[in-house]
Amino acid sequence: MNAILVTGAAGFIGSHVSEMLLKRGEHVIGYDNLDPYYDPRIKRHNLNALGDSLNFTFIEGDIRDAEKLNHVTKTQKIDRIVHLAALANVRVSINRAADFTAVNVGGTVNVLEAARAVNAAHVVIASTSSVYGETNRIPFTEDDPAINPLAPYPATKRATELMSHAFHNLFHLPITALRFFNVYGPRGRPDMTPYKWTQAILNGEPITLFNKGNMKRDWTFVDDTAKGVVAALDHPNGFGIYNLGRGEPVLMSDFVQIIEEITGKSAIIQETEAPASDPSVTYADITLARKTFGYDPQVSIADGLQKFWEWFRLANG
Ligand SMILES: NC(=O)c1ccc[n+]([C@@H]2O[C@H](COP(=O)([O-])OP(=O)(O)OC[C@H]3O[C@@H](n4cnc5c(N)ncnc54)[C@H](O)[C@@H]3O)[C@@H](O)[C@H]2O)c1
Repeated sequence: MNAILVTGAAGFIGSHVSEMLLKRGEHVIGYDNLDPYYDPRIKRHNLNALGDSLNFTFIEGDIRDAEKLNHVTKTQKIDRIVHLAALANVRVSINRAADFTAVNVGGTVNVLEAARAVNAAHVVIASTSSVYGETNRIPFTEDDPAINPLAPYPATKRATELMSHAFHNLFHLPITALRFFNVYGPRGRPDMTPYKWTQAILNGEPITLFNKGNMKRDWTFVDDTAKGVVAALDHPNGFGIYNLGRGEPVLMSDFVQIIEEITGKSAIIQETEAPASDPSVTYADITLARKTFGYDPQVSIADGLQKFWEWFRLANG
């Protein structure tokens, strides 16, 4: 049976996508270098959550290692690829532009080359809402030129979209790039706002709120994102770029309030101006993904944060 390569399978979104694919009986090869940017023990936990399915094989490897990637795709009967491995934090990228470029751009080119070598039936790659920068076209639509990234991270992700187009044009590889919007939920990354704020509020430590909370983010629950990835994988469509958000941006001041209500504790708020790397709004128009592969996000921010909280309490004893 052919298998699906999931790069970044030990990460937050990758573990959910792998779980969903395994549940419907697919063979999944997870490929991840357990990058130490955040604690690799968390990534091992994520892998454990996939259970001991005989249909899952984990290979510890780096996407910068082209030879290893090629060996894996050739020997493991890979016919589809979900490429999620990346360095993925906007503010961290400010002082690590070279690392972000090597992993996100160089690594993605290696994935595309490996896909080309096995004539893959479909490659789905992760992009980000940050490619839109501080656009005045709101909600964000995929035909926005997205040529004004605010930091290295979105610049590398836009570069991977453009490189994917080149590979599609030259080698007819079916490739779909998905722009994820502020994904959160169980197994959420410890460097992202939901985790950081929940932890700080519980510990009685201050949280940093930009622009008096007057910023909006289109938070998307991870099950909705993972369903979107799998639906996109099932619909190869030449080359395409799609927003995978919820389409209902939330004011960050409201976001804090929901966490306060769920935890039953008040936040200590430190207000500052937003850094130049952070746009004031993210807001997805999801019409195209809905029409093309039936993307249909279901989970409201209140329900999603409640589910996140239930996981967080268990995970942190
Ligand atoms: N979480 C979000 O809100 C969000 C939003 C937009 C885009 N994305 C994108 O979605 C994808 C998954 O993000 P996530 O939130 O699950 O992040 P994550 O950091 O939890 O997962 C990324 C995984 O990639 C692995 N990785 C990093 N460098 C690697 C390398 N050189 N070789 C092999 N593996 C490597 C990491 O070890 C990690 O397990 C990323 O491409 C990210 O840019 C995420």
